Amino acid sequence: MTTPRFRDWIESLPEQGMVEIAALAARMDDVIPLWYGESDLPTPAFIRHAAIAALADNQTFYPPMSGIAPLREAIAGYLNSLYRTDLPSQRICVTPSGMQAMWLAFTALLEPGDKVVVLAPVWPNIPGAIHLAGGRTVFIPMDSADGWSLDLGRLEEALKSGVRALFIASPNNPNGWIMSADEQRQVLEICRRHQVWLVADDVYGRLSFESDPAPAFIRQAREDDRIIVINSFSKAWAMTGWRIGWLVHPPGRERLFEHLSLYANSGTATFVQYGALAALKDGEPAVTEMRAHCRRGRDIVCPALEAFPRVRLPERPRGALYVFFEVDGMTDSRAFSRDLLQKTGVGLAPGGNFGPGFDSFLRLSYCLDGQKLAEAMDRLAPALG
Ligand SMILES: Cc1ncc(COP(=O)(O)O)c(C=O)c1O
Repeated sequence: MTTPRFRDWIESLPEQGMVEIAALAARMDDVIPLWYGESDLPTPAFIRHAAIAALADNQTFYPPMSGIAPLREAIAGYLNSLYRTDLPSQRICVTPSGMQAMWLAFTALLEPGDKVVVLAPVWPNIPGAIHLAGGRTVFIPMDSADGWSLDLGRLEEALKSGVRALFIASPNNPNGWIMSADEQRQVLEICRRHQVWLVADDVYGRLSFESDPAPAFIRQAREDDRIIVINSFSKAWAMTGWRIGWLVHPPGRERLFEHLSLYANSGTATFVQYGALAALKDGEPAVTEMRAHCRRGRDIVCPALEAFPRVRLPERPRGALYVFFEVDGMTDSRAFSRDLLQKTGVGLAPGGNFGPGFDSFLRLSYCLDGQKLAEAMDRLAPALG
């Protein structure tokens, strides 16, 4: 008997090495989990209490498709004060996660077979979302020889030939690279010249160790630019399990995104939106604490990694909560990280999932308790030293 198949292009989505590591670790004791894209801090109490109060107040009915009005206004106000912009709340669409914002953006933009240029290394969910929306990912690798860098000439070359969109996350997952304001200005010009859409991911925009916030395209974009900005409450406010984010779309597209939300998810949980509202209203100290927690983690992990003879760290991450490093002699990051987990009890994400050519890399999440991180480094020493 043959097994019934689903659509080929869905069955062909690659399996993620991180998922395999998580499944393996679930059957083990005493594991230090460093493959996750989140910190170990719980959501601040005032955010949790705001959602509980909303439930007590019967905020249990269907929400408006683009989000409750006070939250859309708070997001516009937050962005305007952070980036000195003048965005109206009509350009904000609240979404059930940053991932869902990505899905809506690519669904809105792509016809079957459209090309999307993506800088690599890249979080694997992004090519996944492009694939599901019917598009094709074209990877442009960053250079890691002397710190992480991007050749803008090469990027422009790639954008010349029938490309629909460019995706850039800065700070980037997995390497903590940050694009400068000047590079962003040039990229906006390139996108204008070639009439390419820009999908800008600011999910880690508040987790920059150089400037707060990190440079953002939204600050320099004009009203007539083809740009969609993705954001999320997950990382900066410790709300990964809440599943809430937002996107900023061009003027005049409010109805389109309302429609897309109606058919894709019919809105974001109402009481969750009240938690997010509290996060924006009173959350600045929590964001500052999260950034400091990330920085402490980075400063424990990076010197230890740099001292391991087999490890090459192109540069210390400048933002986000990950370090992406190369291991001498490793050619199969998936097999290596499985073996590493079994021998040391430390779980890392295999680099091979972050784009072609990264099978000699591993990603480690460092926004965790310092003692745990120090113990992880001790355990990794025999394998990487
Ligand atoms: C670069 C990037 N964008 C977007 C997201 C989506 O975050 P969420 O779906 O939790 O809001 C993530 C999560 O890891 C990410 O790393």
